[in-house]
Amino acid sequence: MRKVKVGIIGCGNISPIYFQAGEKFDILDIVACADLTLSKAKKRSEEFNVPRACTVDELLSDPEIEMVVNLTNPEAHSEVHLKTLEAGKHTYGEKPLATELEDAEKILSLAKEKGLLVGTAPDTFLGGGIQTCRKLIDDGWIGEPIAATAFMMSYGPESWHPNPGFLYKKGAGPMFDMGPYYLTALINLIGPVQRLSGSVRATFPERTITNELDYGKKIPVETPTHIAGVFEFQNGAIGTIITSFDVWGTKTPHIEIYGTTGTLIVPDPNAFGGPVSVKRQDYEDFVNIPLTHGFSENSRGLGLLDMVYAILNNRAHRANGQIGYHVLELMHGFHIASNESKYYEVKSTCEKPASLPMNFLKNSLEI
Ligand SMILES: NC(=O)c1ccc[n+]([C@@H]2O[C@H](COP(=O)([O-])OP(=O)(O)OC[C@H]3O[C@@H](n4cnc5c(N)ncnc54)[C@H](O)[C@@H]3O)[C@@H](O)[C@H]2O)c1
Repeated sequence: MRKVKVGIIGCGNISPIYFQAGEKFDILDIVACADLTLSKAKKRSEEFNVPRACTVDELLSDPEIEMVVNLTNPEAHSEVHLKTLEAGKHTYGEKPLATELEDAEKILSLAKEKGLLVGTAPDTFLGGGIQTCRKLIDDGWIGEPIAATAFMMSYGPESWHPNPGFLYKKGAGPMFDMGPYYLTALINLIGPVQRLSGSVRATFPERTITNELDYGKKIPVETPTHIAGVFEFQNGAIGTIITSFDVWGTKTPHIEIYGTTGTLIVPDPNAFGGPVSVKRQDYEDFVNIPLTHGFSENSRGLGLLDMVYAILNNRAHRANGQIGYHVLELMHGFHIASNESKYYEVKSTCEKPASLPMNFLKNSLEI
């Protein structure tokens, strides 16, 4: 099968795992990389033997490049996706799809007009942990899902991220930064959402960086940092979610799903592996279930790989723009419901992505 030539835009903190995906998955041929700061692109091209480091415009005008991976900061996602589509290339990006719904809408409609694909992280739901959970639910191990809880609570990324400022800007915060992992996992396991309510607050007006690089520097907080939501899936199941950068410690699980005949504990949706455990009505306690699917190590880029095979084999891709749009609407919805003191009726929907077969070849998603 022919290789697909890919360009990467945005060569910051998360980019190495995508360059490594180019080394790991034969079908991806990363031929160029670009960044607003050219020296960052040069550094990555040297580290990962990428033939060309260049400006964004140079990368987009290269006719050989079929697909762009957009790893810029969230506020630049829509601009780079739109430019990529205008240049006639498929686009796959880090989460969220965009910060504003209107921009996400423009991305999807331009892609449709041009006959191009839009893909978006997270792709962790394609990993062994969550695919095993999907199989257990689909095979009826916990009966009909009736409810789910999802908790992502920490004291924020300023202790470890080299550039944490953007994570406290509008369009980021714990919901827009981490919510996509939890909501995408739940959509994959239970389905799309129809209405929701929420309460949000910004606890601290500024944060203090404690990483080595900028120790002691202050960051202004421009977005809520504790968001609690209740949401109703189209199939009637009820979800509860909290995302927070205000919490010093917690013992809450990442995700649990409660069914008519049992409970499923879902592993961290920001990772690819397990553990997965189940307690059915006739079990005394939870039992760990061996993973049924591969890709349980850090496999960021799997969604991109799936999209490449989708293009080559003319099939639907899983980490797609419709799911990214639905997730973005839910995240805004929690904030809108809180600000307007009412339920938010969700306008968008999406298909549950197809589950992965158990027996695909290692390092390939050729299905
Ligand atoms: N860092 C992580 O652990 C992590 C994990 C998962 C997902 N993400 C996501 O990945 C994305 C990037 O995060 P990061 O942590 O790598 O941030 P970062 O700030 O380290 O890197 C972003 C890079 O994009 C470049 N950039 C910004 N606007 C641009 C533009 N218009 N054109 C070209 N380049 C531009 C910046 O110069 C920078 O080098 C974000 O959407 C984030 O949510 C990050």
